[in-house]
Amino acid sequence: MKTLIKNATAVLPTGSVKTSVLIEGNRIADIAPAGQSSADETVDATGLHLIPGVIDDQVHFREPGLTHKEDFQHATRACAKGGVTTFLEMPNTQPNTITADALESKLALAAGKCLVNFGFYIGATPDNLDVLKTVRRTPGIKIFIGSSTGNLLVDDQDALEQIFAETSLPICAHCEDETTVRDNMQRFAGTQDVADHSKIRDHQAALIATRRALDLAKRHDHRFHVLHVSTANELALIADHGGLITGEVCPHHLFFNIDDYARLGTRIQMNPSIKTREDNQALWQALLDETIQVIATDHAPHTLEEKQQPYPKSPSGLPAVENSLALLLDQVHRGNCSIEQVVHWMCDAPARVWDIVNKGRIAVGYDADLVLVDLQKTSTILDEQQETKSSWSPWHGTSLTGWPVRTWVNGKTVFQDGRIDNRIRGSEVQFDHARGGYWKTQ
Ligand code: DOR
Repeated sequence: MKTLIKNATAVLPTGSVKTSVLIEGNRIADIAPAGQSSADETVDATGLHLIPGVIDDQVHFREPGLTHKEDFQHATRACAKGGVTTFLEMPNTQPNTITADALESKLALAAGKCLVNFGFYIGATPDNLDVLKTVRRTPGIKIFIGSSTGNLLVDDQDALEQIFAETSLPICAHCEDETTVRDNMQRFAGTQDVADHSKIRDHQAALIATRRALDLAKRHDHRFHVLHVSTANELALIADHGGLITGEVCPHHLFFNIDDYARLGTRIQMNPSIKTREDNQALWQALLDETIQVIATDHAPHTLEEKQQPYPKSPSGLPAVENSLALLLDQVHRGNCSIEQVVHWMCDAPARVWDIVNKGRIAVGYDADLVLVDLQKTSTILDEQQETKSSWSPWHGTSLTGWPVRTWVNGKTVFQDGRIDNRIRGSEVQFDHARGGYWKTQ
């Protein structure tokens, strides 16, 4: 099957250019093909931008075990609609993904159900070092240095030293200091005010844990990715370590702050907690100056019924995959960044952070994971229109300009004209760990 996409403004690694892109099978076969290319389908993309599919390097899709909140089918329908063609998923499912068997059965489950491409982190525990040393079909190791949803936690210093010393896969971590959070929980015992969540999981908790993780990474010269950076204070620690350390920020930490609790309550209860307006601004600036490389969602759905319990019974987490690209395209519309920067943060950089083979760029020979976006289209996010099984969005009622209108996964159209093709299946992502990390591949 050959598809010729004509007249699009394609966002290439070298910049944006009005050109044609030829898809053959599951690959990008040519850019600006000479002469009259024959194709089974010709798409006239006049007025639209063609970008690589988004790679979301931090999601929680809840399968197996927690499928009343989310499952692969619903979550990847949401991805298809949102222009996300690849996801990397976290290990706090049930069972936790902490053994080679659990990883392989999750991969098999995903192959049967996911409409987009997939990879799964292996979770660290205080005593699964042998697994972490030997497992390979994974982007890397996830450590909860502070606990969040689920029971994964490695807080013991000796265990952490061993993981950083003896494993070779890249490591990423949830950085909130357990002791600080527990002390703060005692101080705020009895509170039912969700705004106190940001005082319990406070700036100090994030700073202490990120400092601790970076100290380990530097001493052991170990590739390390700081997940969901939420404070201005952490940025100075992350900046400029010659590619050893990379960082990620999430839309909720960019666009929500503590002033929003009054309006949105537990819908924006997250770990790490949302912080202040000043933190929003510093995180945005860190993207612009490349202190932070990646935008990912931390898509973490819970049912509205669960979320509507009084704090602190309400669980932390919110769904986001189907709106993350539009949220950033809306920033392009407002003149706060360029579409090339959005492609860098959401497509190219995650591919290089995790050494993903043949993804994240529009280039000949790369996988045909592509998204057509309409920078003029305005639409309002509504709970009742969400594909996620949890059926809500913290951005309910928000109008955005700039939306994905068609998504290809491995050369096949999975989303077009508002319709999702349930028959499409993504494939397991390949990682070239020998490439050795972010900056070294440039
Ligand atoms: O708020 C959160 N919820 N943060 C996490 O890191 C985990 C997530 C979840 O799985 O619910």
